Amino acid sequence: MNEKITIPNHIGIIVDGNGRWAEQRGLSRSAGHRAGFTRLKNICLYAERLGLKYLSLYVFSTENFKRKKVEVDFLMNLFVEVFKKEFQELMDHHVKVVFSGRREPLPYNVLKVMDEISEKTKNNTSTVLNFCLNYGSQAEILDMTRNIAKQVLDGSLSIDDITLDTIHNNLYQDLPPLDLVIRTSGELRLSNFMLYQASYAEFYFPNIYFPDFMENDFWDAIVEFNRRNRRFGGNQS
Ligand code: FPP
Repeated sequence: MNEKITIPNHIGIIVDGNGRWAEQRGLSRSAGHRAGFTRLKNICLYAERLGLKYLSLYVFSTENFKRKKVEVDFLMNLFVEVFKKEFQELMDHHVKVVFSGRREPLPYNVLKVMDEISEKTKNNTSTVLNFCLNYGSQAEILDMTRNIAKQVLDGSLSIDDITLDTIHNNLYQDLPPLDLVIRTSGELRLSNFMLYQASYAEFYFPNIYFPDFMENDFWDAIVEFNRRNRRFGGNQS
């Protein structure tokens, strides 16, 4: 390929299709999530090799707590297992891990491993992996609004001083805007994923269940991103 490809600064992935991938093969949903995790790990390592600065991963929404208890429990245990098991490899690759989402009602063992991994990787300088876990964008906007309202009420902030920076500083994490959002499985929805951060993102919806989403599919998304003409509301071509 002759064209020079620019790696976006911040990519988001809405991980979707683990369940359907498993059902198609007569496997349990848990097997689909395990296969999804293996893929996710490889995509993270590939993103780091490409020099991607920020990768946000929507792995569990606030609404996912409505699923059957057995599936929720399986996923919570999987998070604990893999964050423990993969920790050293993340360190070896200098990856920094952060989490976005509400702590309630995540179980204690999940919160503990999340706190440990974010503390131990906080000074790492390679890719920032932002796991959206018990995350919902509407909840994030609500929590941000409450934080700002409290600062106004206690007198530390005046209404006239509220700017877009104030909003940014009161979101869950200090992250740049999303440049590209990928949702696997063929669904064409954002499903409450980083609505504010995705204001000017480009969207890419491959018709592939996540456990089949390979490195070359991720690369195809980046190539397609390079073909888009981003105007940010202006009219330059
Ligand atoms: C969406 O597929 C996937 C999830 C809700 C869970 C994502 C979890 C992982 C990739 C595994 C572990 C990740 C980490 C960070 C350790 P779905 O179940 O909604 O699929 P469906 O729409 O086909 O049912």
